[in-house]
Order: sequence, then structure tokens, then C-alpha cells
Amino acid sequence: MTLIPYALARSFLFKMDAEDAHEFTLANLARTQNTVLDRAYRQPFVADPVTLAGLKFPNRVGLAAGLDKNARCIDGLGAMGFGFVEVGTVTPKAQPGNPQPRIFRLPAAQALINRLGFNNEGLNAFIANVKKAHFRQHGRLLGLNIGKNAATPIEHATDDYLIALAGVYPHADYVTVNISSPNTKNLRALQSDEALDGLLGALTARREALATEHGRRVPMFLKIAPDLDADQVGVIAATLNKHGMDGVIATNTTLARDAVSGLPHAEEAGGLSGAPVRERSNRVIRLLREALGPHFPIIGVGGILSGHDAVEKIRAGADVVQIYTGLIYKGPELVTEVASALQQMKAR
Ligand SMILES: Cc1cc2nc3c(=O)[nH]c(=O)nc-3n(C[C@H](O)[C@H](O)[C@H](O)COP(=O)(O)O)c2cc1C
Repeated sequence: MTLIPYALARSFLFKMDAEDAHEFTLANLARTQNTVLDRAYRQPFVADPVTLAGLKFPNRVGLAAGLDKNARCIDGLGAMGFGFVEVGTVTPKAQPGNPQPRIFRLPAAQALINRLGFNNEGLNAFIANVKKAHFRQHGRLLGLNIGKNAATPIEHATDDYLIALAGVYPHADYVTVNISSPNTKNLRALQSDEALDGLLGALTARREALATEHGRRVPMFLKIAPDLDADQVGVIAATLNKHGMDGVIATNTTLARDAVSGLPHAEEAGGLSGAPVRERSNRVIRLLREALGPHFPIIGVGGILSGHDAVEKIRAGADVVQIYTGLIYKGPELVTEVASALQQMKAR
């Protein structure tokens, strides 16, 4: 039990505009992390270690990217009991993102729609924040998620990813290459055959050079969309193997609206997350597991709002899971619920 029941905090936060509530929460996390005030959200840590991509994950629940885009609250989020925390997406240069409003709650569906568009303070500010965090000293894993600036033409996208990779490399336990946000024009086109082949070829070659320079080989994961057919997933799986990528994160938000049609805000542009993306994400995970075999690391994300949902994701083929929207609806208690459910699943 935390000091403040999340149901109470939520009823206050949900009266605010979604992005204001987000900023308010992050500002308070940043202010209180590493102080006694973190008792307001601190959770017991559930140990459930698993080795994946050569990394020892202390438990199987992580924070998904996009909640802490500027890496301001790594320790505060860590206190909630995550075994791994992924921050970003960071782009080489700072950028404002899309005009507000750009986050919408759909409470009846336990969902969000966002079209933030990688609003962030850029690589330098991000790295400065990452360096301040103590999280990694406790054996927890930090993932750094990279993307491209909106102003960079898609034909030069690789340049942005290479700059970002070199910048985050020395500070990351793993790096996530995010090519699946629906809110940066043409980004998802990077998931298609030739574009993906070129991008991953360039990134894995640069990784070899960085591994020599820093004396450490940092695993790289690719984050993909749920809106892919079986053939597209098959091509992605083959390309991941071809380039020696270390894992895949499935999935990002969906453009589909069938599960929320008729609800207020359902027609807002952007990516839909939370309960309505769960089955779409599980479908992609199943396809990936089939195509990649039993040993390729898969991080499952999309629509986890309970321990049961997380167990279902592992059964679909994921090795570990991440949450974002569930944290907004259920609060830090969800981290413990998920970590415990997965720990018990292993014990059985
Ligand atoms: C407001 C918001 C912002 C997000 N920003 C990012 C981002 O910057 N990079 C990224 O890789 N994913 C981002 N995501 C996607 C999440 O990491 C996650 O893949 C997706 O929301 C599905 O999981 P969920 O249903 O648990 O939220 C964002 C999601 C939300 C709701």
C-alpha cells in the first residue's frame, strides 16, 4: 500500500487536462524522488530475475517509453518497483511536438489517444538527466529509446538514429530503436523491407564501432507497431535476425479505432493505447514468436491493466512486459500486481 491511495490521486488528476496532469505528476516525481517523500508512491520490489539478451532483468515488468521522455524521473519511477525503465523517445535536437491538446482519455475503454509527436528537450538535456539517476546502481536496467526529429526528411532518418545511438550508447543497458510512432510523418514507413534493412544495417555497423570504443556491447531492440499484417511481421523478423538485433518490443500504439468507436474522443488523430490495443499487440507477439523461434527476446507491451493481462502476454510469447496506460488508470500498485503475477507464473 502506498501512502496515498491511487484512486484518490486519480480522481484529482482526472479532473485536469490529460497533459497538465501528466506534467504535474512528473514534476512531483522529479521533486520527490530520492527523498523520504517517495513513500507516496514507493512499492515493494518483487524479485523475479530473468536473463534476456545477455542482460539480467531483476523482474519482468518495465515502464514503457514515452512517459518520461526527458529522463527526469528515472529514480521516482524506479521506486514503483519496475525491474527496468525505458525513457525517451529522445531525438537529436529538442522539438516542441504537435499543437495541444494532444493527449485524450477514454476512461470507458481504459484507453488513451495521443499525438504528442516526440516532444522532448533533445539529446544533451536527456543525457544530463540520465547521468543524475541512481537507478542503475541497484541492478535495475535502463533502456534509452531513440527517434528522429520531425524536421529531418525521412530519407535522412538514419543520420538522426546514428547521432542518437552514439549519444545514448555509454549510458544505456539497452537501446530501443523506435520506428513505430504514428505521430511523426512517415516514421512507420521505416518498418518496410528495404528501409528497415538499410536502417538496421547502418545501426548495427555503428554499434560494432561503439562496442569497440566503449568496451561494451549494448543490446539493441526494435520497437514495432501493432498495425502490421503477418507478411510484414515475417519480413521484420527476418530482418532482425539478419542484422543480429537483440530483441523486439511489440507493440506501440494503434491507429485502429474499431474497439472504441462511438466513445468521446475516439476520432481524435493519434495512437490509441490501453485495453483496446491488447489483443492487437498479442497477435503481433504470437506472430513474432512463431517467426523468431523460442529464444529470440520479445518484450510485450500494449494494454496491460492487470496481472492477468501480463500473464496472457507471456503466454502469447513475450519474455518480459512493459506498461504505460495501465499505470495511468491503475497507479503504481499495478507494477506490484504484474510483477507478482509473473513471479507466481514462473513458480508454477
Ligand atoms: C502519451 C503516450 C506517449 C507515448 N510516447 C512514446 C514514445 O515517445 N516512444 C515510444 O516508443 N512509445 C511511446 N508510447 C507508446 C507506449 O510506450 C506503449 O508502447 C503503448 O502505449 C502501448 O502500451 P500501453 O497500452 O501499456 O500504454 C507512448 C504512449 C502514450 C500513451
